Amino acid sequence: MDNWPKVNFGNAGFEAAFERRDVYAVSSQDARSRKRRLKVAIIGAGGVARAKWIPAIRRLQTVGEPLDVCGIADPRSEARDATAAALGCAAYDAVETLLGPTLPDLALVLTPDASHVTVARHAIDRGVATLVEKPLSADYFAARDLARAAHQKGVLLATVANKRFSPPYALAKKLVEAGALKASPTLFSAKFTLGYPYVDLLEGGTVHVLDLMAWFMGPAAKLHARAVNRPDGKLESAVISTTFASGAIGSLVTSCAGLSFKPWERVEIFGRNAFLVVEDQLETVLFDEETGPAKSWRPAIPNTLMFDEEFGGYVGQLENALDAVRGVAPVNSSGLDGAAAVGLIEATRRSITANTEIDMAREGLVP
Ligand SMILES: NC(=O)c1ccc[n+]([C@@H]2O[C@H](COP(=O)([O-])OP(=O)(O)OC[C@H]3O[C@@H](n4cnc5c(N)ncnc54)[C@H](O)[C@@H]3O)[C@@H](O)[C@H]2O)c1
Repeated sequence: MDNWPKVNFGNAGFEAAFERRDVYAVSSQDARSRKRRLKVAIIGAGGVARAKWIPAIRRLQTVGEPLDVCGIADPRSEARDATAAALGCAAYDAVETLLGPTLPDLALVLTPDASHVTVARHAIDRGVATLVEKPLSADYFAARDLARAAHQKGVLLATVANKRFSPPYALAKKLVEAGALKASPTLFSAKFTLGYPYVDLLEGGTVHVLDLMAWFMGPAAKLHARAVNRPDGKLESAVISTTFASGAIGSLVTSCAGLSFKPWERVEIFGRNAFLVVEDQLETVLFDEETGPAKSWRPAIPNTLMFDEEFGGYVGQLENALDAVRGVAPVNSSGLDGAAAVGLIEATRRSITANTEIDMAREGLVP
């Protein structure tokens, strides 16, 4: 490959760091400052809002994105008051009260899974563009109907798929698009493990890798899954095999018999006589010749030029949603993409229960 994709690895971009000597990319940039100023509302002030999304908002504001937080809603007064004080915005006890006095340009739905559809529906009914945390819903048909309703109303609905924006995966995608695999993807292989006992293995964790699978390989046509349960009857491990509409095939092993502070995931994408590996969302390796070297990238850690909120993909996801609201970029990870990932979970559950292969279209699992 002659032209390596320029993907910033969670640090300031090359132009800022080397040409402008602005290593944190904080000096004003004309192109960004000319963008339309937008108001964002935050619904749900819990862990992911405070640890990931608010730092991502701050990072974007720091680099000059015209963006204000116009309100935060959470039924828990300590959470909403502390967050509103830190952000200097108004606090509300519910999405209904927040969307009364002022309509934001974008609502971030960061509430627990069970309330995603109700809260997002409220915003979409008011014509407010919405970015919803994953999974779009634990219920495939609720997710599909939400995505369809938003589409019919012409209101932007995006689903969080932050790994798509995380540099190692973003680089892998650019390499695939640039032809580094010497053919369209023929084979997808992945493993995902975790150890948190309270996170649902499929909706809570594996959904990220299922979304990546669909992103790299396109829609699945058929899926078969086998599983073993924990002593308490909950899913412990599953092996999922797929045939994609393109004719390619894939396999994914997922398990909560692993650990949470130890290696989590590995994704491999094969073309023809070339393959890519993304190891633990940290390192991207391209193997494309028998006797030449592998080409690999990983960030230097610790590195004061690296930003966790960028490396995790939250900054890129939010920036894309804002630009989609402005109409200057297509949305990457739409509501339909979020519903498709949940459709793969529904197919996995059905296949485990019936011990049979699931035809995605025949079972109505293609949004
Ligand atoms: N993208 C990722 O990698 C990632 C990581 C963690 C969590 N998540 C997702 O983010 C969502 C939130 O997770 P969390 O860990 O922050 O949960 P959390 O329980 O810490 O926070 C949720 C907050 O939402 C509030 N809330 C509940 N119902 C509400 C409603 N109707 N309106 C407004 N606020 C409401 C709660 O009071 C709480 O403060 C979940 O869907 C989760 O799956 C995604």
